[in-house]
Amino acid sequence: MIYRELKELLERHNQLQVLKWWDELDAAGRQKLAGQIERVDWSLLPLVKGHAVFPKGKVEPIDGLDLAAIAEGRERFRALGLEALRAGKLACVLLAGGQGTRLGSDAPKGTFDIGLTKPLFIFEQLIRNLQEVVRACGVAVPLFIMTSEENDARTQDFFRAHDYFGYPAQAVAFFRQEMAPVVGLDGKLLLSAKDSLALSPNGNGGWYSSLVRAGLAEEAEKRGVTWYNVFAVDNVLQRMADPVFLGATMESGRATGAKFVRKACPEERVGVLCLEDGRPGVIEYYEIGKELSELRDEAGRLVYSFGVTLNYLFRADVLRTISAARLPVHVAKKKVPCLDEAGNLVEPQTENGCKFETLILDMIRCAGSCLPFEVEREKEFAPIKNRTGVDSVDTARELLRKNGVEL
Ligand code: UTP
Repeated sequence: MIYRELKELLERHNQLQVLKWWDELDAAGRQKLAGQIERVDWSLLPLVKGHAVFPKGKVEPIDGLDLAAIAEGRERFRALGLEALRAGKLACVLLAGGQGTRLGSDAPKGTFDIGLTKPLFIFEQLIRNLQEVVRACGVAVPLFIMTSEENDARTQDFFRAHDYFGYPAQAVAFFRQEMAPVVGLDGKLLLSAKDSLALSPNGNGGWYSSLVRAGLAEEAEKRGVTWYNVFAVDNVLQRMADPVFLGATMESGRATGAKFVRKACPEERVGVLCLEDGRPGVIEYYEIGKELSELRDEAGRLVYSFGVTLNYLFRADVLRTISAARLPVHVAKKKVPCLDEAGNLVEPQTENGCKFETLILDMIRCAGSCLPFEVEREKEFAPIKNRTGVDSVDTARELLRKNGVEL
């Protein structure tokens, strides 16, 4: 795009400020900035003002498998799951494209060292958990790792430097998610450098479309993959490629499965599984409201207590019908480093910008059916979101120790 066209485009969207330092840029800088501007999805920007509130339909509890029901069917589920794993029907997808801002480290979250007397990296612990399944079923489960433009090189280098923590390298592939522009609270595009828009990963809802774009989904499905187990980078206790979970979800005939923990208390900041107008969905903790979050059944148990752990199963045929473009876009206020009026990079102390994200939890609703599957919190839920306090490095260490992991 030549300068005149670029200017016209930006004028139309009232975003000329991003060309403020154009005259200072060399040819490479101009090309970089122009390329980013051309790729902006302009339909996102107005969402800042309207603050997209998603229509919430009639909310009802969803049925799922609790610990007792799982214990009863365990052997059957496990046999079914192991058979599918041996037949190469499952691939794992590790979501590692996030920025981990709450942890306060620039490095990819999975490279964070949680060890005390010796190094223990988050990625390393996840690979160890996966290796347990590989030992049980005798085949290496394909592992796709989603990164972002920001952390891709560092993530790949890290795995190579650590020899994939003993996982067969040929079973691992990396793919990148897309980036979305970041805007100020007034809806204006922000710059992270004179030649670059401020960009952030576009949320974890685009994982399948990015996997398709990378050519990996087609290849995997040709080789017989019919299920994907998708999970977050930060739960160091989670079991992935869990044969019991896989077998139970397959047997249920539902298109997706979601591992959940019982909410510890109504105020816990975790999304809950429910039905919305008859379709499975997740209501976020900030959307549920006091009345529903505190509602109890006759036995005194919370009615909306299936807290999602971000460990899902998706059947591949259904994924192909979920278009990323149809997922709602969420607007999240964040502290975004950006150039000030004088062209200096500033690290804001308060939220100054908005990111646009699609979320994997909305894919559950689109898929139309889901098997909630309970797991024991103490054994499978140790998310690391913060450095200290709730869901932190400290709480995860404590839980790892309880589960016999040496730190
Ligand atoms: P979180 O919602 O915890 O976000 O991601 P985050 O970026 O890791 O952390 P904060 O909010 O900045 O502190 C849940 C999971 O989804 C992945 C993360 O890597 C994590 O595994 N994710 C999130 C992506 O892969 N891409 C994204 O764009 C966002």
